[in-house]
Amino acid sequence: MPSRYSDAPPIVGRRAPRVDLRSILAANPFVAAPMDGYSDYPFRAICRQCGAGLTFTEMIPAIALTFGAKDARRRVRVHGGDEPLAIQIEGSKPDVMARGAAMAQDAGAHIIDVNAGCPSRRVTNGGAGAALLSDLELMARILRAVRDAVSVPVTLKFRSGPSTGHLVIEEVARMAQDCGIEGLTLHARTRTQGYRGKADWTHIARLVERVDLPVIGNGDVIQGEDGLRMIQRTGCTGVMVGRGAIGNPWLFGELLAAWKGLPPPPRPTRAQWLATVLDHYDRMTDYLGRDPELAARLFRKHLSRYTRGMRGAVSLRRQLASVLNRPSLLAAIHAVLADEGPADAMDQPMPEPDEPGFLVPEG
Ligand SMILES: Cc1cc2nc3c(=O)[nH]c(=O)nc-3n(C[C@H](O)[C@H](O)[C@H](O)COP(=O)(O)O)c2cc1C
Repeated sequence: MPSRYSDAPPIVGRRAPRVDLRSILAANPFVAAPMDGYSDYPFRAICRQCGAGLTFTEMIPAIALTFGAKDARRRVRVHGGDEPLAIQIEGSKPDVMARGAAMAQDAGAHIIDVNAGCPSRRVTNGGAGAALLSDLELMARILRAVRDAVSVPVTLKFRSGPSTGHLVIEEVARMAQDCGIEGLTLHARTRTQGYRGKADWTHIARLVERVDLPVIGNGDVIQGEDGLRMIQRTGCTGVMVGRGAIGNPWLFGELLAAWKGLPPPPRPTRAQWLATVLDHYDRMTDYLGRDPELAARLFRKHLSRYTRGMRGAVSLRRQLASVLNRPSLLAAIHAVLADEGPADAMDQPMPEPDEPGFLVPEG
């Protein structure tokens, strides 16, 4: 059976035209974050539909790319319409990172992003991710190797430092510029902080002062006004949104409206919400090789986020294991919608979602 999205074939092997990060962010400063286990192509497509400009892939281990691992190959594939796209790679060996970057470029990446922020032990035990914040010399070697391996822009996503008592914002700023990096994303927390506490946006302002590069600020953007507030307070060029967009991609439209000085767009109606949730699931089925059961299993975490703040959300979460395919997904969704109101009220707006702060990556 032909894919529903056969008009958006993969463009593996086609080099992307060179992009300018500053121009991308000037047109739309709102960026969908790399999130392992979430920001695959279907999620990115939904975020774009709702207003995201630039999107990032989940992190891809460079070593897995060079081995041709199935999951890495799926993650690196660039789909038509998914642009501009930053492909994020992680690793601690400069030569492997260089090879991984070249492969990501061949797959069609517009930007190669190097991960120096992931605090998960799975990543830091091998010296990658946030472990690089404690070895800036290695970070510099990786950035140079990646820079030399590709012709598309290379960017770096990092945290403020290994710990609150040891920030490396200035050092990374200087080093990244020296290495020919074309943009920086700062998640304004430290490695030891993990996802606790609040992101300290003054760190983003400090970085902006130190570099002549576009800076994407990141951390705790969860409401429509937060984006403009971050730009005004820090002077950042772009705003990256992670957890706030999971289950609430409409946040991008709210951020854009506030940035343009427009009134907040209405919340999606129940009918629009349902259409988006099903579109997301159908895209996942396609993405995963038309395997509805795998798609249903992986979609459960999205579904529990789409329904946060709804009356039936708690009972839905208890029944998530019974979501096995499209019919059982639809049954679960209709049960939650029935708790919200009569079936003929599909033109009613959905409620505001709860705070997303409890979502912490595994590892
Ligand atoms: C589930 C999850 C997975 C993540 N995976 C990645 C990743 O692959 N690469 C990365 O650089 N950051 C990753 N992050 C961090 C986010 O990109 C972002 O920096 C962080 O969530 C803070 O932004 P937020 O407050 O908007 O969520 C992840 C975060 C979450 C919650």
